[in-house]
Amino acid sequence: MSTLLLTGATGLVGSRLLPRLVADGHDCRVLVRREQPLPDGATAVLGDLDDPTTLRAATEGVAAVVHLAALFRTDDEAAIWRANLDGTRHLLDAVTAHAPAARFVMASTGNVYDHDQARPGQEDDSCHPTAAYPASKVAAEALLRESGLTWSVLRLPFVYGEGDGHLASMPTLAERFGLHPAHTYSVAHHRDVAAAVRLALTGALDGRIANLADDAPVTVYDMARLAGSPIDGSAEPLAHPWAGRMDSSLLRSLGFRPAVPTIWDAAAQGIL
Ligand SMILES: NC(=O)c1ccc[n+]([C@@H]2O[C@H](COP(=O)([O-])OP(=O)(O)OC[C@H]3O[C@@H](n4cnc5c(N)ncnc54)[C@H](OP(=O)(O)O)[C@@H]3O)[C@@H](O)[C@H]2O)c1
Repeated sequence: MSTLLLTGATGLVGSRLLPRLVADGHDCRVLVRREQPLPDGATAVLGDLDDPTTLRAATEGVAAVVHLAALFRTDDEAAIWRANLDGTRHLLDAVTAHAPAARFVMASTGNVYDHDQARPGQEDDSCHPTAAYPASKVAAEALLRESGLTWSVLRLPFVYGEGDGHLASMPTLAERFGLHPAHTYSVAHHRDVAAAVRLALTGALDGRIANLADDAPVTVYDMARLAGSPIDGSAEPLAHPWAGRMDSSLLRSLGFRPAVPTIWDAAAQGIL
């Protein structure tokens, strides 16, 4: 059985992806910063993207890497750049040295697209993000593309589901960032993050950046309501109506179909 390295396995996305990768039959090695319980079939390697000396044991001999680890729920911009750009550089160096044939799949974000775009973001749009998180992701994507490894990038939308608390945080996010209630975001359920990662692991996305999104973008208003904390509407016009929206036709053309087509299906199935 070939070994797959997963980073970010303790996060919202990774903790839901890991059991699925294990169930798929991957021998999962997981980079963790501290000891913690993992599903049967996963092996922890203690390490930190900040410390290159810890990454040999994590990467040696792996056939694939799924790199989710990142920092973005903070205002500390230096820490964001350190984790997302320097950390990715350290990981790429380790993979190049110890597993040069590995397929490297990296999670990025739909936040990379310009906020004043006139339509949903497409993968070959030029992106000029100014905030540290998306800017560090664009820079990390470039490092990966130039690494000489076999690579793909999945730009994730707002990911939700399985009680991860992300949807429940929407009323707080709306207040903190002044989100317009009528603003729509591309979204995807954890099941479909797994489906997209599975597709990437087949090689179908090699050498590509691909947007992930389900069939129906959702308003902030609807997300808050689905989370059980309704917010008021607003009659103000939207300043940047296409910010946070991604065109997922490339991924669909490569075989992806969402297993959870809309957030409403997730609500009906009880998997929010
Ligand atoms: N969730 C979303 O809606 C969403 C949307 C777009 C893109 N994404 C992308 O998807 C990925 C996962 O997001 P998430 O929501 O799961 O993030 P998260 O919940 O914040 O988890 C971040 C993960 O990265 C790990 N990490 C951070 N710094 C590290 C370091 N220096 N060394 C090793 N591990 C480190 C954390 O480990 P600790 O437990 O040790 O802190 C944790 O496992 C990210 O790349 C993010 O950019 C997510």
